[in-house]
Amino acid sequence: MDLFAEQDLQQPARVERIGEQALVLRGFALPRVKELLAALDCVLLQSPLRQMHTPGGLAMSARLSSCGDLGWTTDRHGYRYSPLDPLSSRPWPAMPEAFLVLAEAAASAAGFSGFVPDACLINAYAPGAKMSLHQDKNERSCTAPIVSISLGLPAIFQFGGFERSDPTQRVSLFHGDIVVWGGVDRLRFHGVMPIKPGHHSLLGEQRINITLRQAG
Ligand code: SIN
Ligand code: FE2
Repeated sequence: MDLFAEQDLQQPARVERIGEQALVLRGFALPRVKELLAALDCVLLQSPLRQMHTPGGLAMSARLSSCGDLGWTTDRHGYRYSPLDPLSSRPWPAMPEAFLVLAEAAASAAGFSGFVPDACLINAYAPGAKMSLHQDKNERSCTAPIVSISLGLPAIFQFGGFERSDPTQRVSLFHGDIVVWGGVDRLRFHGVMPIKPGHHSLLGEQRINITLRQAG
């Protein structure tokens, strides 16, 4: 990567604080969207998006896939990280370099240096799909932040407290925005309201979220 590209990644258009250690980096992914989408296509050819079920047997409305050493999965046996894609029984696709570089840059812009994610969850939301309030707590350690990249249709992200019933902030997320939360905010409940119908020039009628974590 050349010097200018590196600088692009370190200068988000606008930063919004949603917690003591939680930031929205507006447009941070925009300079890298082409590479991200090419890498994403490659990942999804190997491990396609699929419907997963909660341990309670409910179908999730977003379709999911993963890449990296560990992939997050859910089925009747529970939520967990697995080194193998249950569809193929083979390892998940390798984490693309473009994901690693952008995640490290975003984490570091948000005050978390040395972020090396080993797990990347891909959520694809068609209009109407949502993600109920939850905590990310299947990771072995909570010292690393969560880096969450939004692409395609906009979403209303809910960012709450440490109890499911705590009030939530509603934050609009747009194509290219990255949310980073860690430290004292790492275990906050969060979710995504049902995606409104619409058309995005690059991604069509969907929102893609790429979440990077240090899970193992
Ligand atoms: C998640 O928490 O797994 C997804 C968040 C999002 O889609 O923005
Ligand atoms: Fe999450």
